[in-house]
Amino acid sequence: MCGIVGYVGTDAAKPFLIEGLKRLEYRGYDSAGFALYDPKSKDFIIRRSVGHVEALVEATHGMGDHERLGIAHTRWATHGVPSEVNAHPHRAGGLVLVHNGIIENHAQIKNQLIAEGVSFSSQTDTEVFVRLIEKHCLRLALAQKLVFLEATPLQKRDIALHALQRAASEVEGHYAVIFLIQGIEDCIFGLQAGAPLVLGQCKSGGLVASDLQAMLSHTSEVSFVPVSTIFEVSKGLSHFYDVKTLEEKTVKLEKIEWSSEKVAKDGFDHFMLKEIFQQPSVIADTLSGRMPLSELGSFVWDNPVAHEALWKNVKKVYLIACGTAYHSAMVAKYYFEKWAKLSVEVDIASEFRYRNPVFEVGTIVGVISQSGETADTLAALRLANEKGLTTFSVCNVPGSTIMRESNFQYSTKAGPEIGVASTKAFTAQLTVLTALAYDVAHLRGLSPNSKDSDEGFRSLARLPQDIESVLAHADEFQAVGASLENKKTILFIGRGTMYPIALEGALKLKEITYRHAEGYAAGELKHGPIALVDKDLAAVVMAPPDELHAKTLSNLEEIRSRGAFIVGIGEDKDTEFRKLCNSYIALPKTTWTTAPVLYVIPTQLISYGLARKLGCSIDKPRNLAKSVTVE
Ligand code: F6R
Repeated sequence: MCGIVGYVGTDAAKPFLIEGLKRLEYRGYDSAGFALYDPKSKDFIIRRSVGHVEALVEATHGMGDHERLGIAHTRWATHGVPSEVNAHPHRAGGLVLVHNGIIENHAQIKNQLIAEGVSFSSQTDTEVFVRLIEKHCLRLALAQKLVFLEATPLQKRDIALHALQRAASEVEGHYAVIFLIQGIEDCIFGLQAGAPLVLGQCKSGGLVASDLQAMLSHTSEVSFVPVSTIFEVSKGLSHFYDVKTLEEKTVKLEKIEWSSEKVAKDGFDHFMLKEIFQQPSVIADTLSGRMPLSELGSFVWDNPVAHEALWKNVKKVYLIACGTAYHSAMVAKYYFEKWAKLSVEVDIASEFRYRNPVFEVGTIVGVISQSGETADTLAALRLANEKGLTTFSVCNVPGSTIMRESNFQYSTKAGPEIGVASTKAFTAQLTVLTALAYDVAHLRGLSPNSKDSDEGFRSLARLPQDIESVLAHADEFQAVGASLENKKTILFIGRGTMYPIALEGALKLKEITYRHAEGYAAGELKHGPIALVDKDLAAVVMAPPDELHAKTLSNLEEIRSRGAFIVGIGEDKDTEFRKLCNSYIALPKTTWTTAPVLYVIPTQLISYGLARKLGCSIDKPRNLAKSVTVE
């Protein structure tokens, strides 16, 4: 959460900063700001404004076009309301700083600084941190009989790095900062203390940002700053130091396959719609080179030997994630249990990390994350690593912290996902997990029931085409969504793998329409939620023709008879189901293997259609941010 970007070089910094902020806006968009260094006045130009980055652009039109050094920030408020005074950058004397993450003991440090005579202008933990660094700069300078602001650039740099080290040792939390020092015209300084930062060099200068997307149009070679690392970046040079010892360390340069063209709307009204329509190619990319030629072969993963060793003696699997990614884990449980006969526990990362789970010998922990930076998921992964368990990740962002810290990686190939509400990354997660469960069954000598296996395998291979044929009806699905405009509550129900898909359908609807939605296991309705049912409620019922079909239809009858408006999602030929519905979304024939992917797509479009009708901010829903790097 929150996006950080910095540029230092020979071109004007502001265009780099604004472009970077726009690309990072999905991380937070309640206020934005920048600081440029003006070599003439030898001072900072700081501008901040409330609202989206565009508001900052308008407010600063025609200014700051020549400065060649700057840092910028787009905020998702944690401490202090979204306001100009709380927006970043924050200044303390000769330092100006932007920050992502949380300083947990900020209140205690603030009180201490106030007692020492420091005054504050904002409610943020960020200002506490920059004032703490400033305090140490002043003290360290004094110890050398210097006045910090009057010291030479070299002395200032040295003092500031030690001051940063001291401040870092006093604060608790997971965060990242970058800052400028008054009088140093060619360098950005920073610290990665648990929130991601990436450095890159383009022709005209050095760049630093919270993630790749801010710099992809300038360079595809980047260094992911490791945790607990102080760094300095200038044109053509980056240096990294251990935060505890200040000893220099080497960080490798990595080539990134994503290209900047992918970060554009390509004629779609919203990124979310573009991403829904990208699903056939995303699933094709995710399966490409991995599918065996027949159902008897093995899937091909990046490191086949390590993959086989990983699953050899596994007795129990934990799948851990947050939000939408958690729903993919819930679906995977059905596959691992049925095909691979493995016991699977699925956990919400924010719960798992604070429980005391009991790990038996042979337990393996998998974490699932689009961004690879979600704070709770990362903490769960670290906990599993600390316990000495083997870990793997299913992740979309190359080089992300979760990918780097897990023992084995199964990448999803969804490309950059910009819409805050996840769509293509979810179906890519489902695809990888389905293939994985299928493959693990084979590794364990368990061929899934041969008829199922055969049909399931073939349906996985033709999934991209099947998604295309579902998307051919996208307008109809959006119209169904728009028709729910006057419903107060929208219930999504299903059984088996359709239960997590119901949860996902409801989550998407809540996120982008702000309407009350609930996902429920259809069999649970009569244990409480059926009390909600009246004519103002719509129920989206998902019932592929599987062994639970008849039971789901019985649950449908129970709510239909109490006045609910029924939207059915089922197979085209299912006339029995169709006649029970007010509105029916007809899908092509599916198998148990691919139904979750195909059934979730209409729910994405129902939510999109309703959000459009209601005039909601679809790509950037209120209060949300895409990368949840605080707990
Ligand atoms: C919902 C959504 C979130 C994320 C969750 C985990 O549309 O996107 O629920 O799924 O915040 O994020 P990642 O997958 O990045 O770990």
